[in-house]
Amino acid sequence: MKKLALILASTVVGLGAAHAEADGAKIYATCAACHQANGQGLPGAFPPLAESEWVNGPAENLIRIQLRGLMGPITVKGKQYNSVMPPNAAMSDEDIAAVLTYVRSNFGNKASAVTADQVKALRSEVGKPMLKAEELIDPNKAEEKKEEAPAEGAEKPAAEGNAQAEPKQEAPAVALKAGETTASGTVKKSEHLSRSSETFAFGGFAAWTLLSLIPVVTGIGRK
Ligand code: HEC
Repeated sequence: MKKLALILASTVVGLGAAHAEADGAKIYATCAACHQANGQGLPGAFPPLAESEWVNGPAENLIRIQLRGLMGPITVKGKQYNSVMPPNAAMSDEDIAAVLTYVRSNFGNKASAVTADQVKALRSEVGKPMLKAEELIDPNKAEEKKEEAPAEGAEKPAAEGNAQAEPKQEAPAVALKAGETTASGTVKKSEHLSRSSETFAFGGFAAWTLLSLIPVVTGIGRK
């Protein structure tokens, strides 16, 4: 019985190690409905998160966008968008931090992690009118801007504004709710599936490593 408890405990520890990383990826499913699983957005409708100067700019902007939503004209990677992003203020500080950290460290982005405390500090934004881009810190002028952020347009294909780089996916009408995941961490899009199975594989490996240490550490099995 004691042995079983130990096994359970170490499994939990093993999975816990992979947990933080998995959360951001899972929560991203809510964003993927619009910004797409690969973070490229949809031309003319949803701006890209991949190598966006906003995503790689001040974290404060991103947190405020989540808490208040965003509307009106905004230029992202040299292209104008003019639409509406609803706020995600119902998400916890931890979940907002996790998804923003995920976005800032994937899709070719290399910006610092966002902490739950940073989100908490801006909670008073909730309930204010939707943000406009001009109320945000201009990421092209911000000092916090990362040097390694890709130069404007560096990756842009020669043909402006055509959709060739966008793998078409189903209409972005079916936003997954945060937490709408099964026990196995499955979300609708295959990209997420492979990402979360990677994470789960890692969790499994960590659990296995811990498990194999139990007899060594506890002496269980030795008479
Ligand atoms: C319902 C569609 C929708 C969802 C869901 C959505 N967004 Fe957006 N997002 C938009 C639109 C539209 C804009 C541009 C708004 C404008 O035109 O002013 C935008 C703008 C942004 C921007 C600033 C511009 C850029 O591309 O860098 C960021 C950052 C962003 N969204 C992050 C997220 C994250 C993170 C999530 C998930 C937690 C998310 N969005 C969910 C539609 C959406």
